[in-house]
Formats: sequence, structure tokens, C-alpha cells
Amino acid sequence: MMRLTGFFIALVVFASVSSCQSDEEIKREQYITEGILVFKNNCANCHQNKGEGLAALYPPIAKSDYLVDKKSVICLIRYGQQGAIVVNGKHYNRPMPAQPQLSDLEVAELITYIYNEWGGETKLTGVKTVTPILDQCKK
Ligand code: HEC
Repeated sequence: MMRLTGFFIALVVFASVSSCQSDEEIKREQYITEGILVFKNNCANCHQNKGEGLAALYPPIAKSDYLVDKKSVICLIRYGQQGAIVVNGKHYNRPMPAQPQLSDLEVAELITYIYNEWGGETKLTGVKTVTPILDQCKK
């Protein structure tokens, strides 16, 4: 009997601790889960599944120093990128095609995934942040 009581107490404590997860945290995890799928379907054929890039053709996204400029990253996803760029000291110069098929929400999910996985962030980048930036860089 005592054992069973102990078990139920543990269960209740566990349940309340896990429900402490904030809505923001749950949303961040959802964005990451979706972001992984969007990445696999739209980016990984060039940048590879682990974001490591491919030789001198496709730059890495994992630990890329280009990530410091989040606005540029948001814009290049939608509108592509042309001309020479330097990523982690290596030169690349090959056009990245625009990805107009991705909605603002999908861009936000991607950005959340990329920055949590490879950019040292532990936060959500929501549609409210992404949409005004996409409007600014509209081409
Ligand atoms: C057809 C291949 C291709 C696809 C698909 C592609 N990229 Fe790129 N990406 C490139 C190339 C090539 C560059 C370098 C462009 C240059 O040289 O100016 C680049 C550059 C980048 C950069 C900036 C440099 C760096 O590596 O940090 C980021 C970030 C990026 N891509 C993210 C993405 C994301 C996210 C997707 C999916 C939505 C994507 N790319 C899809 C080829 C691709």
C-alpha cells in the first residue's frame, strides 16, 4: 500500500512538473519538429541532412558564421542568393534558387530549427518576426 501511494505521489509530481512547460516552449518544439521536415524536403539535397554542406559547391549551415545575420538568412530562403559569399573562411559562388513555395510559417519553422540546432539559440522565431523581414526584402 505504501509503495503504491509513493508511486502515485511520484506520478502526480511528474505530471505537474511536465505541465509546467510553457506554451512558448511547446510551440518552439513544434516549430523545430516541422522545421526538420521542411529542411529535409527543401534544403537537404544541397546542404545535406546534417547541414554540413557539400564540398566547394554548397556551404554548411551547421555552425555557419553566416548565421549571425539572421535577416539575410530569412531573406535568402525566400529569394535565393547570388554572387560570391564566404562561409567559415571558405569561398562559395553558385546561385541558390529562391524558395517561393515556402510560406511565412514554414520559413519561421525553418529558422527556429536552424538556429536552435546550429546557431546556439534556445528560442522560437515566430511568424510575427519573420513576416515583416520578408516584406522588407521583397523583390
Ligand atoms: C539547389 C541547391 C540549394 C538548395 C535547395 C538550398 N540551398 Fe542554400 N545555398 C546554396 C548555395 C549554392 C549557397 C551559396 C550561395 C552563393 O554562393 O552565393 C547557399 C547559401 C545558403 C545560406 C548562407 C550560407 C550558409 O551556408 O550559411 C543559407 C543559410 C542557406 N543557403 C540556407 C538554405 C535553406 C534553409 C534552404 C532550404 C529552404 C536552402 N538553403 C536550399 C544552395 C542551395
